Amino acid sequence: MAEQSRAKTSPAAWVDLRGKVALVTGAARGIGQAIAATLSAAGATVVATDLDAKSIGESAAVSGCHPMVLNVADENAVDSVIAAVVERHGGLDILVNNAGVYLGFGGPIADMKTETWRGLMSVNLDGVFYCCRAGARAMIRRGQGGRIVNVASTQAVTPGVGVSYDSSKAAVVQMTRTLALELAQYRINVNAVAPGATWVQPGDAPPLGPETLTFTGEPLNDQVLDRIRRIPLGHWGAPEDVAKATLFLASPMSDFVTGIYLPVDGGWLVL
Ligand SMILES: NC(=O)c1ccc[n+]([C@@H]2O[C@H](COP(=O)([O-])OP(=O)(O)OC[C@H]3O[C@@H](n4cnc5c(N)ncnc54)[C@H](O)[C@@H]3O)[C@@H](O)[C@H]2O)c1
Repeated sequence: MAEQSRAKTSPAAWVDLRGKVALVTGAARGIGQAIAATLSAAGATVVATDLDAKSIGESAAVSGCHPMVLNVADENAVDSVIAAVVERHGGLDILVNNAGVYLGFGGPIADMKTETWRGLMSVNLDGVFYCCRAGARAMIRRGQGGRIVNVASTQAVTPGVGVSYDSSKAAVVQMTRTLALELAQYRINVNAVAPGATWVQPGDAPPLGPETLTFTGEPLNDQVLDRIRRIPLGHWGAPEDVAKATLFLASPMSDFVTGIYLPVDGGWLVL
């Protein structure tokens, strides 16, 4: 009985991705880890990649994914990893560009060093470009269509985290639209998910009280904190919430959907 009800709530009960090959970036922890585990639970062969060699090995072992080390800011490494995936698994059907940085890359523009700006852009924007380019080449060459899902942020359309981060995510949303148009002729759907405040630290998300409202160690901008307290659905998101939306965009359930960004934010953007 318990087994039956678990089966009903498992992603595998909704979507069958058996026979599909997926690559997820930044999959050692947080949202990327949940996405890799969810695609794997739905039957896909998942290559879980991350900059952090030790953690990606450990997390991939738990979810039955194939670990690979990949720094998305290194274009040659991106090209070689995607070539290796095609060689080993016969092709690439689903690419999820999740790797992103925010901690230590913010601050007011007047104090921002060029290397801080470039450091963030090299991962959040250049990295998405390198992966989309290599992924699109592999998908076009095989001629069987494909799915690209970019992990943007609600900050793409509502500023608050900082000039570098917000600008990078706005660019990712526009890159998603442009590539949706350009790659439609190859039956490659390109969409984005836009997480709102998502609790990625171990343990439960803190209540929405003023005393616990720090985000992974760094205090957030007052306006953002105020918005988190006012999330209509009343709590932080979980990595699994973003993973379920990504599963939808990676699956046949969204066959006629391309060029969108899907907020996963408890209603944040309604405010
Ligand atoms: N957590 C949130 O509230 C939130 C909200 C909106 C958007 N996002 C976006 O979701 C994505 C995941 O965020 P998260 O909160 O899970 O982050 P996280 O910091 O918990 O995990 C990010 C992962 O990416 C990896 N990574 C960092 N730089 C990399 C690089 N150059 N190459 C490959 N991997 C790299 C890290 O090692 C880590 O495993 C990011 O793109 C982030 O901007 C997060």
